[in-house]
Amino acid sequence: MTPFICPLCQSTFSQINNTQICENNHHFDIAKEGYLNLLPVNAKNSKNPGDNKEMMMARRAFLNSGSYLPLAEKLATLVGDLLKNKSKATLLDLGCGEGYYTDYLANSLPNSTIINALDISKVAVRYASKRYKKINFCVASAYDVPLKDNSLDALIRIYAPSLDSELQRLIKQDGYLITVTPAPRHLFELREKIYEQVNAHLSENEAPAGFSKIEQINLNYPLAINEAQILKDLIRMTPFAWKFNEQKMQSLLDEKQWRIECDFNIEVYKKRSAES
Ligand SMILES: C[S@@+](CC[C@H](N)C(=O)[O-])C[C@H]1O[C@@H](n2cnc3c(N)ncnc32)[C@H](O)[C@@H]1O
Ligand SMILES: [Zn+2]
Repeated sequence: MTPFICPLCQSTFSQINNTQICENNHHFDIAKEGYLNLLPVNAKNSKNPGDNKEMMMARRAFLNSGSYLPLAEKLATLVGDLLKNKSKATLLDLGCGEGYYTDYLANSLPNSTIINALDISKVAVRYASKRYKKINFCVASAYDVPLKDNSLDALIRIYAPSLDSELQRLIKQDGYLITVTPAPRHLFELREKIYEQVNAHLSENEAPAGFSKIEQINLNYPLAINEAQILKDLIRMTPFAWKFNEQKMQSLLDEKQWRIECDFNIEVYKKRSAES
């Protein structure tokens, strides 16, 4: 049974053949890759919101190189520890992209864990759903998540937007929010090639409304890149890709070997109780 609910009336679905039908008879076809597209047409600001195919493919290729494996491992250990006393935990990866971290989590958590993931980019969800079969994927907005109130033991948000009120609504009273954001020196050696003055990212973030921070982790490591293609993929998946003109790109590629700092903030929050 799908954990997702109807984006139009919030009622639960029943599956008939390849269609999910809600209690009010709204129909949503299950794509051949297995995901549900639950993004109402009128909720789109553009025809294809979210990451485009090129960015998503660059991210997939870069992540496949193992360059961010330390982050995936750290998250898996952290989430595993947080959920160790829950017998059948439910999790959401918000803004899951092409599903690299979602899959890593799915393979490291107990099989009984229910793993849901969403992204507003249809192409990212299509590719994710084709490759990773243990996960329930849907296309939807992080600002209007088609899941029931108080349904999540953990919500993971890696470099994706969210709305505090949605986080509060979705996460159970004893559940966790885990976020990953860039820390001050993230990709410093790339950013200093672009900007005359590199503004450091924040070393920590404030808790979203209704949450208290219970853990602040800094994950920092030097990444050695020896293949030009991996460097190109990294640049193409970043928001500053367009700032690299051909000349800048060529002078960077001429270096042949690169050492780039990875610096992540991992923050864990718990829902604040009504009285605190
Ligand atoms: C930087 S990528 C990170 C993807 C993935 N979490 C990862 O780290 O590989 C940000 C993702 O957020 C998605 N996104 C942007 N706006 C969104 C929204 N309003 N709702 C859901 N996803 C959104 C993009 O499509 C993109 O896949
Ligand atoms: Zn409905």
